Amino acid sequence: MLTRTRKIWDVIDHRATDEALVTNRRKLLAGMGMGTIGLSFIGRAHAQEAGSLIAPELYPGERNPAFTLDRPLTEEKLATTYNNFYEFGGSKDIVDAAQALTIKPWTLTIDGMVEQTVEMDVGDIVRRLPIEERLYRHRCVEAWSMDVPWSGFPLKVLLDLARPQGSAKYVRFETFLNPDEAPAQQQSWYPWPYIEGLSIAEAGNDLAFIATGMYGKPLLKQNGAPIRLVTPWKYGFKSIKSIRKITLTDQRPVSYWEELGPSEYGFWANVNPEVPHPRWSQAYERPLGDFGSVPTRLFNGYAEQVASLYSGMEGEQLFM
Ligand code: MTE
Repeated sequence: MLTRTRKIWDVIDHRATDEALVTNRRKLLAGMGMGTIGLSFIGRAHAQEAGSLIAPELYPGERNPAFTLDRPLTEEKLATTYNNFYEFGGSKDIVDAAQALTIKPWTLTIDGMVEQTVEMDVGDIVRRLPIEERLYRHRCVEAWSMDVPWSGFPLKVLLDLARPQGSAKYVRFETFLNPDEAPAQQQSWYPWPYIEGLSIAEAGNDLAFIATGMYGKPLLKQNGAPIRLVTPWKYGFKSIKSIRKITLTDQRPVSYWEELGPSEYGFWANVNPEVPHPRWSQAYERPLGDFGSVPTRLFNGYAEQVASLYSGMEGEQLFM
């Protein structure tokens, strides 16, 4: 089934990454002045039923040394209890509500402009593709950040299962739609299901990652189990959770947040400290668990790996 033809990635610039590790964390912390994150609700233990985890024996996978960090990992308890998952409510405290999501079985479809439509159970996908671990920064548009050990595989490796056609220009991602399990999806004034998108060149970049695990275990439901996108050079809302369908297309997808607030959230959403959100500055960020702020970096520190994706695109709103 995995017949090898010339892949679309072969014609796209996706240089191997070699992350620059230069900044001392203490220096980053110098000059902070912003407030702290209210974490009063954190501290409850949230054990997910072991039976609902998919192939825990595969995690964390081999650590890929090309993707490391220059600051400490976020404490696991914080990263797994301070969440944005609007299908389960508008607060950060959605852990309990998210446990209603059925993730086993979970079929992922890859369709559209592909040589072969794929419909596979996520359990079969993780057993088939080699799992690796990468340490990535994550910068939310709300100006908090975290540093996470993700497990999974490059997005392009997943897409290659369906062999994208050369005419495909974008990749559209769609989350589940199940108002019975995700009560906020009963609110018809929101444009459910959650949609995100990347250009085909972005999808082929080595940084674009599909996570099926974090902190050495399969993903927990609140973090987007069983399968999510991670694009660390973009604001966190691009990293769509609990993906059901991936469609290769020649039409630029309209993402969930773009549909809701086009003057505040665009398609590209690349991190840039010099381009403020219309309602707040993006110059600093508050790492979860830290009682201060650090400067935000262009492309969240990944400019070396991704800036070339956008050359000649100065007319586009690349940073919102
Ligand atoms: N994906 C879906 N389906 N629904 C969401 O509400 N929130 C996004 C992103 N992916 C979201 C989503 C936002 S705004 C952020 S910052 C990250 O998920 C948060 O991921 P985390 O909860 O694992 O930190």
